[in-house]
Amino acid sequence: MARTRTTKKLAQRIDLNYFKRPTPLKRAKLFLSIVAPAIALAWIAWLVFTKDTRVYSSGRMSEAHAVLSNNCAACHLQKAGLFEQKTADSACLACHDGPIHHHVAIKQVACSECHDEHRGRVNLLAASNANCTQCHSDLKAAGGTSNYANAVASFTGGHPEFAALRASSGAPPIDHGTIKLNHALHMKSIRRGPRGPMVQLACGNCHRPAAAPADMTYGDAHYRDASTSYHPSDELLLVRAETLPRRNAASGRELMAPVKFATACASCHLLTFDKRFDEGVPHDKPQVVHQFLVSKFTQYIAAHPAEVRVVPDPNRDLAEKIPPPAVRVLSPAQWVAERTADAEQLLWRKTCLQCHALSVAGNAVAPAVATSAATLPVVAPANTTAQWMPHAKFDHQRHEGFTCTSCHEKALTSTLTTDLLMPGIATCQTCHAPGPDHAESRCFECHSYHDWSKRKEISPTFTLPSLLHGTRW
Ligand code: HEC
Ligand code: HEC
Ligand code: HEC
Ligand code: HEC
Ligand code: HEC
Ligand code: HEC
Ligand code: HEC
Ligand code: HEC
Ligand code: HEC
Ligand code: HEC
Repeated sequence: MARTRTTKKLAQRIDLNYFKRPTPLKRAKLFLSIVAPAIALAWIAWLVFTKDTRVYSSGRMSEAHAVLSNNCAACHLQKAGLFEQKTADSACLACHDGPIHHHVAIKQVACSECHDEHRGRVNLLAASNANCTQCHSDLKAAGGTSNYANAVASFTGGHPEFAALRASSGAPPIDHGTIKLNHALHMKSIRRGPRGPMVQLACGNCHRPAAAPADMTYGDAHYRDASTSYHPSDELLLVRAETLPRRNAASGRELMAPVKFATACASCHLLTFDKRFDEGVPHDKPQVVHQFLVSKFTQYIAAHPAEVRVVPDPNRDLAEKIPPPAVRVLSPAQWVAERTADAEQLLWRKTCLQCHALSVAGNAVAPAVATSAATLPVVAPANTTAQWMPHAKFDHQRHEGFTCTSCHEKALTSTLTTDLLMPGIATCQTCHAPGPDHAESRCFECHSYHDWSKRKEISPTFTLPSLLHGTRW
């Protein structure tokens, strides 16, 4: 007999209480609807209990502000009982000043545009190029024009060649210093050094950072320790005033100190003046040298009175019609005057002239041209450029590992002081360019933004307990 399949029989197979039995899926649902919220509540309770507010934040704070991670209200001021998502400049200014860029700056830029927060432990100073180029890609100062390049898009796009290397009114850029120095000659090996044959000078024998003690290998401590009638700052061409200074005190290792005769030249270039003396004249203005000579010769003749009898030099006075007497007897004063004149002849026309331009009453002193002994010559101001790129903050210390000639390659071949040895923008761009294989090339790396000379001192308001348990979001 065939099995009869009625619907009733079939229905009896179904367990009508199936929904009451637990299944893995149901267990998961139960967990999700009760246990998870309970855990979340416990977590929030714990955060409230520990006063940890990072959960509401959109990202970790920068290194400098990490201590404010619990204190949203320090930057997000409250309005009508609610925290503002935007930060107010006034909140930032309560802790530190951010002085203006240029008094001619045309629009106000909020602090938070450049100093972006909640991006993790990033460098807060790393303003993007766009922050700067919003003005600098089409720069107009108050009068509608700018004193500076006005279409800079990036360091490798539209950034001008540095001012020191640009031709001005058609003339090529030069070094306006007057101390004669043939770099090429001094960088070859020199046959006679002060303490033996064959010396090879290095850049560092003459050039050291301002904060480092000068190298004395070719110096002379006697000259270094002597005081001079001229002041070291008289030698410098000063920096234009509108330059933005660095915020932090300079380390003194950014720039190279001006080269000094006393520390870099004195032991090879002696200022000797007369065979009776080993020492040299002071390295000073001609008036001081003159007084020194007079006093030296006066002391000498007092100690050696017999020398007032002068045997003439056979090479001199040949053209004179009346031959001078075989031996002249001078008064001590005459003797001192003649010896001083001889010494000065040597110094002004040869020794000093090797390194300096000298002039008498506006006329340049030259070896062959006679000048009146009555007037002393004037030494041209050294005109050493104190800072070549004042609108940037170049730092030699940050480039310490690179040879000097990788940037100043012209120093090996230059023969004239007027030659400019500065690297141009192309040299910098070999390293400072976009991309992971290069050094930083955003504007903030090389330029100051704030004019720290205009900074206001802050009266601090935050106390330590309030910082640690601050107002939350
Ligand atoms: C040192 C100052 C500072 C502190 C402290 C701070 N923030 Fe911010 N926050 C900012 C800045 C700057 C912005 C960028 C928005 C703007 O002002 O333009 C910002 C933006 C935000 C935003 C908007 C989203 C975004 O990323 O733009 C939120 C949300 C936020 N902050 C939450 C918090 C919370 C929560 C806290 C406390 C845990 C906190 N912030 C503490 C400076 C701060
Ligand atoms: C509660 C005080 C406080 C507030 C508010 C505050 N800062 Fe700071 N800020 C600090 C401290 C502390 C440092 C670390 C010391 C320093 O470099 O001055 C710092 C450092 C900085 C630095 C230098 C970072 C570095 O790496 O050298 C910048 C830029 C800065 N803050 C910008 C801001 C901006 C923009 C705001 C407003 C959105 C702000 N700060 C709000 C206390 C504060
Ligand atoms: C257009 C971009 C820009 C704006 C707007 C701006 N900054 Fe800066 N800020 C920079 C740059 C770039 C630096 C690094 C170079 C320098 O020191 O000038 C800097 C440096 C700082 C520093 C010094 C950090 C250090 O340790 O040297 C502080 C503090 C600071 N800014 C605060 C502020 C405050 C406060 C405001 C708003 C009133 C503000 N900044 C507005 C770009 C900006
Ligand atoms: C709000 C507009 C504005 C922004 C933003 C701005 N600048 Fe300027 N910048 C100016 C003005 C205006 C001058 C002065 C022009 C003049 O005197 O002819 C100037 C001058 C300069 C100079 C040349 C003079 C000097 O100070 O040495 C440099 C370099 C410079 N800015 C760098 C920057 C950098 C870097 C940034 C970004 C962090 C920046 N600027 C952002 C408006 C701006
Ligand atoms: C014997 C000492 C001496 C040595 C060695 C020497 N210099 Fe100089 N240097 C000077 C003097 C003096 C000046 C200033 C006169 C001038 O501008 O030529 C100067 C000026 C400079 C200047 C700035 C002036 C300009 O025109 O750009 C640079 C850069 C420079 N030297 C680089 C070097 C480098 C790099 C070396 C090594 C390859 C070097 N120097 C070796 C004495 C020296
Ligand atoms: C190691 C020894 C040494 C040192 C240090 C040295 N010189 Fe010389 N200098 C020489 C020699 C050698 C000559 C070539 C012979 C001569 O004319 O005396 C020379 C020549 C010169 C000349 C003439 C160059 C020419 O083209 O005819 C000048 C100018 C000069 N030196 C300047 C300086 C200055 C400035 C310093 C210090 C910054 C300096 N020297 C340091 C050894 C030195
Ligand atoms: C070997 C090269 C050399 C010789 C030789 C030399 N000087 Fe100098 N002189 C220098 C250098 C380098 C400086 C700049 C730095 C310093 O030493 O003060 C200088 C600076 C000066 C200054 C200061 C210039 C200013 O701008 O204020 C005077 C003055 C001076 N020398 C006088 C003399 C006299 C006078 C003689 C000869 C007796 C002489 N010098 C010989 C290299 C020389
Ligand atoms: C690798 C370093 C470096 C970077 C990056 C850099 N600059 Fe410069 N910038 C310099 C130097 C060096 C000078 C020459 C300063 C001088 O002549 O006193 C200069 C000069 C300037 C000047 C003055 C130009 C003039 O007319 O003489 C302006 C404006 C300027 N930079 C803006 C910018 C801007 C905007 C950025 C970013 C887009 C930027 N710089 C990036 C190094 C840099
Ligand atoms: C990465 C390139 C670079 C290297 C490497 C470098 N310089 Fe410079 N040097 C410069 C720049 C840029 C300046 C102009 C800085 C300024 O005055 O604003 C300069 C300036 C100078 C000056 C003139 C005085 C001054 O500081 O302004 C002397 C001298 C000098 N350098 C010597 C040296 C010597 C010596 C070395 C090796 C120890 C060296 N440089 C290495 C780039 C370089
Ligand atoms: C051989 C590669 C090289 C060359 C060439 C070079 N730089 Fe740099 N520069 C660097 C490196 C590497 C750093 C350090 C970067 C860092 O620490 O983030 C640096 C840092 C700097 C800084 C930042 C200094 C500071 O205070 O932190 C400035 C400004 C700068 N360079 C300017 C220049 C200028 C201007 C030139 C061209 C005259 C130049 N550099 C050429 C490699 C180079």
